[in-house]
Amino acid sequence: MHTARIFYNRITFLYPVINYFLAGQRKVLIDEVNKYPSGKLLEIGVGTGSHLPLYKGHEITGIDISEAMLGKARRFEKNNIRLLLMDGENLSFPNAGFDYVVMSHVLAVAKDPNRLLEHVQRVLKPGGKLFILNHFTPDNGLKYIDRAFHPLSCIFHFKSLFRLSDIDGLRKFSLVKKTGLGKGSYYQLLIFSRP
Ligand SMILES: C[S@@+](CC[C@H](N)C(=O)[O-])C[C@H]1O[C@@H](n2cnc3c(N)ncnc32)[C@H](O)[C@@H]1O
Repeated sequence: MHTARIFYNRITFLYPVINYFLAGQRKVLIDEVNKYPSGKLLEIGVGTGSHLPLYKGHEITGIDISEAMLGKARRFEKNNIRLLLMDGENLSFPNAGFDYVVMSHVLAVAKDPNRLLEHVQRVLKPGGKLFILNHFTPDNGLKYIDRAFHPLSCIFHFKSLFRLSDIDGLRKFSLVKKTGLGKGSYYQLLIFSRP
């Protein structure tokens, strides 16, 4: 049993508030995604689906391990949007089927981020783009906050100490663009290409 699944099933009700605070970052992410030509887009950890009405022209598949989060996202389901209960660390899609993969605040939540990235690499077409929005522990004063929070991380099901340089799975991708967001660039939007 995925413990993150139980956790997210329980905290789904908080998402209207969380979505309000993340609205600015979401706009930056979606503006970048929408600069690319229409294609097949997979959003992993789609959550309550707050990005779904904002994508333009893409054929979207959203997956999540939490049926409660997915239940909220279902209000956006229509012809070009399908939603599936699936584990991003065990994707059942064929190889090279997607032009784009989006992960917003999911990488640091995954049990094994490298395994998740292996699956992403497998399902992305060569030249396909990966969009990651996440916090990354910076090399400034904010690292002390992440360090202080670290003992509580397992309760909240995310890795508070999360350095970009420690994620080996990202070395298989080429960095296209990096945008710092928030105070001290604590949040980053990273766009990678699958070679
Ligand atoms: C922090 S929330 C972010 C939700 C949404 N992406 C957003 O930006 O608001 C993390 C989401 O990832 C989902 N999740 C966690 N691990 C997952 C996995 N291995 N596969 C798919 N979804 C996962 C959780 O159920 C939750 O909906």
